[in-house]
Order: sequence, then C-alpha cells, then structure tokens
Amino acid sequence: MTDTQKTAQLSLNGETYELPIFSPTAGPDVLDIRKLYAQAGVFTYDPGFTSTASCDSTITYIDGNEGVLLHRGYPIDQLAGKSHYLEVCYLLLYGELPTATQLEDFETRVTRHTMVHEQMHNFFRGFRRDAHPMATMVGVVGAMSAFYHDSTDIADPWQREVAAIRLIAKLPTIAAMAYKYSIGQPFVYPRNDLDYAANFLHMCFSVPAEDYNVDPILARAMDRIFTLHADHEQNASTSTVRLASSSGANPFACIAAGIACLWGPAHGGANQACLEMLKEIGSVENIPEYIERAKDKTDPFRLMGFGHRVYKNTDPRAKVLKQSADEVLELLGVEDNPLLQVAKELERTALNDPYFIEKKLFPNVDFYSGIILEAMGFPTSMFTPIFALSRTVGWISQWKEMIGDPQNKIGRPRQLYLGETSRNYVDIENR
Ligand code: SDX
Repeated sequence: MTDTQKTAQLSLNGETYELPIFSPTAGPDVLDIRKLYAQAGVFTYDPGFTSTASCDSTITYIDGNEGVLLHRGYPIDQLAGKSHYLEVCYLLLYGELPTATQLEDFETRVTRHTMVHEQMHNFFRGFRRDAHPMATMVGVVGAMSAFYHDSTDIADPWQREVAAIRLIAKLPTIAAMAYKYSIGQPFVYPRNDLDYAANFLHMCFSVPAEDYNVDPILARAMDRIFTLHADHEQNASTSTVRLASSSGANPFACIAAGIACLWGPAHGGANQACLEMLKEIGSVENIPEYIERAKDKTDPFRLMGFGHRVYKNTDPRAKVLKQSADEVLELLGVEDNPLLQVAKELERTALNDPYFIEKKLFPNVDFYSGIILEAMGFPTSMFTPIFALSRTVGWISQWKEMIGDPQNKIGRPRQLYLGETSRNYVDIENR
C-alpha cells in the first residue's frame, strides 16, 4: 500500500483495519477486502453479489444509471449501427478495432472453422428429437472437448487461441444442427461464401429440396442481434464461465457451463419466457390484469424481459432492438403483428406505473428480441440458443482475460453457516 493509496477504515471488535480503495477508469471505487479474513477473522456477506466486484476487467463497462454499455470503450449503439458481429468479436477478443487486413484474416480463420467433426452428427442422434435445443447445446458443446483434444491445454496460448476461434465459429453450426434435429430435417453444412449471420440463417432455414436465398436485410438484423448479445460484464453466465475456468477446466467444458446458466428464465431464458408471456397476455385489453399480477407479491408472475440488476435506466440494447423490430416486421409485412402491439403497450403502461417507476424497472435485452426472432421464423425454443451463440465471444473474451491474469486463482467463496454445530451420532434404536 503506497502513501497515496486511498483507504477505508473498518472498526471491529476494538480494532481498526485499513482497507485499500481502488479507483476504476469508470464506475464506483472498490474496497480491497482480500486480506480482511486473515486480518480481522470475518467474512463479507453478499448473496447474489449485489455489491461485489469478482474481478477486474477491461472488456465491457455498463453504467446502469445512464443506460450506457461500452465494449472496449465503444458504445453499443454505435457498434450495432456501424460495425458487424465478427468485427465486434475481434474487438472483444483483442481490445482494438481491427485494420482491414486484420479483419479479413480473422474472418477467414473463423470461416474455416465453421464445420464440426463429422462424428458429432452421430453424437446428436443420441438425443430425443423433442429435446430442448439448449439441452442439446449444453451436451454437444461440452462434448467438443472429446472431439478437439488439440485445443484443450489452457497453458498453451496457441491452443487457447484455436479454442476461441473454434467456439466462435462452431456455435452457430451447433445451434443450427440442434434446430434441424428438433424438426426432423437434415443438417445443413456451413458455406464459406456466406457471412457469419447469413450462414446461420442458411444452416437453419435451407433444405436440400430447394434453393434458399438469404435476405440481406434479415441477415443484417440477425447480425445486429448477435452484436447486441455479445458481452455484458460479469453477468451470471459469464461469472459461471470464469468460476469454472478458475479450476483449470478446458474451455469447451467452461462454455457448456455458461450455456447451462444462461438457460435460466431469470437470465438468457427470459427471451423465450417473454414471448410466451406476450402470447399469454394476447391483447392490449388484458395488460392491466398482468401489470397488477406483476406487482402482487403473492403472485409469482413477473414481467419477463423487464428489470435488470444493473440497468436502472433503459437497457440500450432494448432501444436498438425495438427499432429493429419495427424494421424487420415492416420488411416482412407483419408490422401490425399483435405481439408487437402488446409489447409496446405493455412497455408504455409499465413505464407510467408508479411500481415500475419506483423500482426502476425498464425493458431489457430480452423484451423485444423474441418478437424479431419469431418474425424471422425461429420457434421460441431457439431464442436462448441464439443468445448463447451470440454470447460465446463474450464468455471466451472474459475467459482469455482471466486465464492471462497472473493473479488468477481458483474461486472458492465462503459462507455464513447457520446449520447445527458439532453433535454425536445417535444409533437408530435411540432416535
Ligand atoms: C439478462 O446480468 C446481466 O447482464 C444479464 C443480461 C446479459 O446480457 O447477460 O442482461 C441478460 O439476463 C437480462 C434479464 C432477463 N430476465 C428477465 O427479464 C426476467 C424478469 N426480470 C427479473 O426477474 C429481474 O428483474 C432480474 C432477475 C433481471 C434482476 O433481478 P434482481 O436484480 O435480483 O432484482 P430483484 O429480483 O431483487 O427485484 C427488485 C424488485 C423486487 O421487488 P421488491 O422485493 O424490492 O419489492 O423489483 C421487482 C422485484 O419483485 N421486480 C419485478 C421484476 N423484476 C424485478 N417485478 C415485476 N416484474 C419484473 N420483471
């Protein structure tokens, strides 16, 4: 600790402890409590990590009060409007926007890794056809460590790089295969002449029986959805990937853990739950009933796609997706889609309701995304797999950052124990 080091004083049991304060380039200061237990014999207590920084990072920053999301300093609305997903992948992975040559090389490397090992086709066949595509993705991505042994040694920087490229390249192929398998259609191989988003639409919607031409405007909308879901600080699934990686587990297993966590309806599963909620509401006339249910503490119903741990202002991604929903539905000639009307009226009603105003509940990334995806032809079961393939670059970028951090050590939280203290075994005849 230097003389200029800012500190906080903690008085406890007649002792005073100095806690170093670290100041970030943006956001709140942090108290360094790493030596607290050794010095003061106490733990801090923060279930849900509402006030806890689990790491330092230079990748993504969210200002929840201002509704700002930056990737390596670039605002998400600028990236969504001016960049494209693979360029954002490069930015997240390497920290800077690529030159034209760097981008071409990166896109070529990703393109040449989009096929999966042919034996994986058989692996898919072990699943029931009606398995949720997220269940298939968790299994298949975890199994990648059984197919790509030459990129599982995390101590080798080259293998880390190959694993990162393989995951970014193959997740769309695996997600599309999960979809095709669930509808009983043959797998469609990736095509190197298509860009990342167009290739995904091709693998999902083309069939051998006829030609399929990807609509460039839909491909652009798909690419924008990928970009808007790419990374988001230390959210639950990213924290899962970091914790799994801290034991030295291989990257494929760690990403599978992230996919499993993302599936939950409080997290990435909210896009599917939100569209199902909008269908259940059905018409604008029913909105008041559901708003009251969302406010009723005795009713487990929540407005899916609303609220966020960090954003206490509009989620900037939701703003972009709302604009994109209007564009895509107009392009598809379904601008009067009743679900979009319900969503817009639900947002308007909630944002004018004291409960939502007081609790600072706004639409999040999952509120409008499902409307776009359904209009594009995806079933609700494919919404979270699309979130997962989009977020893979964020998970991998955070994984790379952590693995490369010399301070990296296994994550092992402590607890507030409220169970029985030591007691002796009682023979069954005496119980
Ligand atoms: C994602 O972390 C990330 O960055 C995640 C994500 C990413 O890109 O990785 O942004 C993606 O997961 C977005 C969130 C998707 N989830 C949903 O849309 C599900 C619905 N929303 C929630 O359940 C909730 O808002 C969370 C889980 C998103 C946030 O939960 P918090 O931060 O733990 O807040 P909370 O549950 O403590 O809620 C605070 C209050 C509570 O009321 P009180 O107990 O204070 O009286 O707000 C209420 C809640 O009851 N509340 C809601 C609500 N969300 C919170 N009430 C009605 N409807 C809601 N949606």
